[in-house]
Amino acid sequence: MATMESLIGLVNRIQRACTVLGDYGGGDNAFSSLWEALPTVAVVGGQSSGKSSVLESIVGRDFLPRGSGIVTRRPLVLQLHKTDDGTQEYAEFLHIPRRKFSDFALVRKEIQDETDRMTGKTKMISPVPIHLSIYSPNVVNLTLVDLPGLTKVAVEGQPESIVEDIENMVRTYVEKPNCVILAISPANQDIATSDAIKLAREVDPSGERTFGVLTKLDLMDKGTNALDVIEGRSYRLQHPWVGIVNRSQADINKNVDMIVARRKEREYFATSPEYGHLASKMGSEYLAKLLSKHLESVIRARIPSITSLINKSIEELESEMDHLGRPIATDAGAQLYTILELCRAFDRIFKEHLEGGRPGGDR
Ligand code: GDP
Ligand code: NA
Ligand code: MG
Repeated sequence: MATMESLIGLVNRIQRACTVLGDYGGGDNAFSSLWEALPTVAVVGGQSSGKSSVLESIVGRDFLPRGSGIVTRRPLVLQLHKTDDGTQEYAEFLHIPRRKFSDFALVRKEIQDETDRMTGKTKMISPVPIHLSIYSPNVVNLTLVDLPGLTKVAVEGQPESIVEDIENMVRTYVEKPNCVILAISPANQDIATSDAIKLAREVDPSGERTFGVLTKLDLMDKGTNALDVIEGRSYRLQHPWVGIVNRSQADINKNVDMIVARRKEREYFATSPEYGHLASKMGSEYLAKLLSKHLESVIRARIPSITSLINKSIEELESEMDHLGRPIATDAGAQLYTILELCRAFDRIFKEHLEGGRPGGDR
């Protein structure tokens, strides 16, 4: 009996194989439509609102550069691949094929170095994404995108156009209908000034693919709380708001690890006079669960269209393979072959899935 997890896992691997292949065929083919049919998750918000911190919590590993000022200067497309229990966790960059990183501190360093390679050690940004895959038994199959923060003014060393450049870059990700938006707003600023909500509302007016995330609850002024936002009275979204307490800069400086941070976050909500009654629906772990449930339902609803796209890809690939002849020595040929195999596997599992229940059924 095929599980949703194996289908999502395959979809994830097809996405990865498509990425490795680049914009093969000029971008307007069955693969690009296939890519667009699959959900991704992008974080959107003002600079230092806590985007990278939230992503790290969802993944459950420390590996992203974080801090005050403009730290994230290139999009990071992060693919999580769930592996069998007991296997060793590792990460791999698209720009360094075949090198497996098991030390996540080195992953962070490589993200910084690869950012600098494109932009220099400056405050400049680049729209060229860094692609990173994490293979681990402790993740859900998911594609996440970390993005530079929206700003209001150019700072020293940045061109005047940077405000617009960042917004346009972010928009290219979040305007795609397959993009689930994690709209990050810090609780210590008025929600009416939230860049995240402003952009999310623009590209997703109905709010069906926007998740409102309120960070920095611990930094609110004494005597104030965020219940109006969290309970949907300030700005209503279709999905519930989730409040978060990430690590502070002092925690980062002291190298407070993820496990300790999660425990502190749980304690914060459990013992909070304001949010105690909502404790089971707050925090990073809850957000991760909420997201994966949502993605599952999105994928389930799209299975028929994904299947037909996959069949179309199989046809395109088979004729391409005939054309190239086998065996194929080139990397592109090998990637095409990988995609073909993955598509066939999806098709097979999907059919088993059909036999086991109704299409897009509950298993
Ligand atoms: P980004 O620029 O949106 O990616 O934000 P970062 O994740 O890099 O975080 C920016 C700064 O805010 C860092 O110093 C974090 O430690 C701090 N920060 C983020 N979220 C929280 C939070 O919930 N509470 C506290 N106290 N600090 C936070
Ligand atoms: Na920052
Ligand atoms: Mg960041």
